[in-house]
Amino acid sequence: MPADWTEAQIRDFGYQVVDLIAESLGSIDRGPVFRPVPPDIAASLRDQPLPQDGTPAEALLADFRERVLPYPLGNGHRRFWGWVNSPPAVIGVFADALAAAMNPSVAGGNHAAVHLEHGVLAWFKEIFGFPPESGGLLVSGGSVANLIGLAAARHERAGFDVRSDGLQGVNQKLIVYSSEEGHSCIRKAVELLGMGSSNLRTIGVDDSFRIDVAALEVAMASDVAAGHRPLAVAASAGTVNSGAIDPLVEISAVCRRHGAWFHVDGAYGALAILSRRHGQELAGLRLADSIAVDPHKWLSVPIEAGLVLVRDAAAMRDAFSLVPPYLRTDDDPTGLGGPVWFSEYGIQQTRGFRALKVWMTLREEGVEGYRAAIDKQVDLAERLRGQVDSAADMEVVASGLSVVCFRYTPDELRGDEEALDGLNRELLRRLQLGGEAFLSGTVLRGRFALRACIVNYKTREEDIDRLVELVRVTGVEVNG
Ligand SMILES: Cc1ncc(COP(=O)(O)O)c(C=O)c1O
Repeated sequence: MPADWTEAQIRDFGYQVVDLIAESLGSIDRGPVFRPVPPDIAASLRDQPLPQDGTPAEALLADFRERVLPYPLGNGHRRFWGWVNSPPAVIGVFADALAAAMNPSVAGGNHAAVHLEHGVLAWFKEIFGFPPESGGLLVSGGSVANLIGLAAARHERAGFDVRSDGLQGVNQKLIVYSSEEGHSCIRKAVELLGMGSSNLRTIGVDDSFRIDVAALEVAMASDVAAGHRPLAVAASAGTVNSGAIDPLVEISAVCRRHGAWFHVDGAYGALAILSRRHGQELAGLRLADSIAVDPHKWLSVPIEAGLVLVRDAAAMRDAFSLVPPYLRTDDDPTGLGGPVWFSEYGIQQTRGFRALKVWMTLREEGVEGYRAAIDKQVDLAERLRGQVDSAADMEVVASGLSVVCFRYTPDELRGDEEALDGLNRELLRRLQLGGEAFLSGTVLRGRFALRACIVNYKTREEDIDRLVELVRVTGVEVNG
């Protein structure tokens, strides 16, 4: 049995934890961005005997401090720009502790966490121009948000009862469309939903890595001609590779013409709707049938915090609702049952109190605070792009939103694509291990590129300037 701590014990231990959090978050920028876990420590973490007897809490904290805390992914650091990982908003860190202290299951019921999640969802509906009666759910992240959006699409647009009949023996193929830059989780969702990745059409992109709408139209028309059913388009509002935003308004029109569901994967970029520069480009989000968004990306809500909105709440509920007799789920907002249970709108029954950290983080900063922060990060990406553009030994491969993909291209290797790929791969490896800055890499049109994605509210202009210097110094070193 877990020990039943006294209030004094909780306070005493809690203060030690708070000291550790303060020390760690306060000093993180002075240490390396990343350092690999030494093999002996990694082994000691992986291979541990099942504890037969208890260990005092103080010893556990000391062990955490020694073997776990010093080896983070690196995304708390102000010079981390890998993948789409942000540093945590400090208030969100504490919100997570408070949520765990309350420990509700937010499957449903009439308790504060349920109402708070509804409140948080209402804010996002407002941000994206969705009607207040739309459906929504906080989930683990963008992958699950996309899965739920596409599950609602499948249920609503399959043309038969997928829930009872399944996809066995179905003659008509259900087709989903995404661009070749669409996130891999779209394919996972299509596979998990039984539609098969051979029925996911990967449509080509234009020079800016946005889906080719004319090609999308042609693909849909030819599927219809072949007797297939265009089920859904999964557009991107900020591709993971290069931040490209698909032309949402045009895609919505194509979907309408073919009766397809319009889903948008905005896990990374949708919240740039708050920004000066991209707000207009993202206004078409209001036309979507469903959107996936990740507060754990650009809002810096501690991982995990994803969110899905589905315009037609009834479709979302119909896709998932299954109420066993021992659960009451009447719509009884002021009574014991509470509002219709969240568990009727998604996969999970027992659900965590994610809303608290989203609620506290969004309130602490406010929409205006985020607008300024996102604008600043887009400006920093622009600064990086400008510096790379004007450098004789580097080139921009792609950029959009707060992503810049670029390469170190010394004169003597220009045109030798294989050598440039090898050089940049090694450069990235050394940069990551060097501990001064962290980028990830990607492949665009078959060519390897360094990739900086700035979803980091801590980054300053001087960090960007240092990055460009570091890439040059490391490039020269690798090139010999
Ligand atoms: C565009 C896009 N879609 C989906 C995802 C998947 O989201 P998650 O990792 O939160 O599951 C990501 C993650 O980076 C992403 O960038």
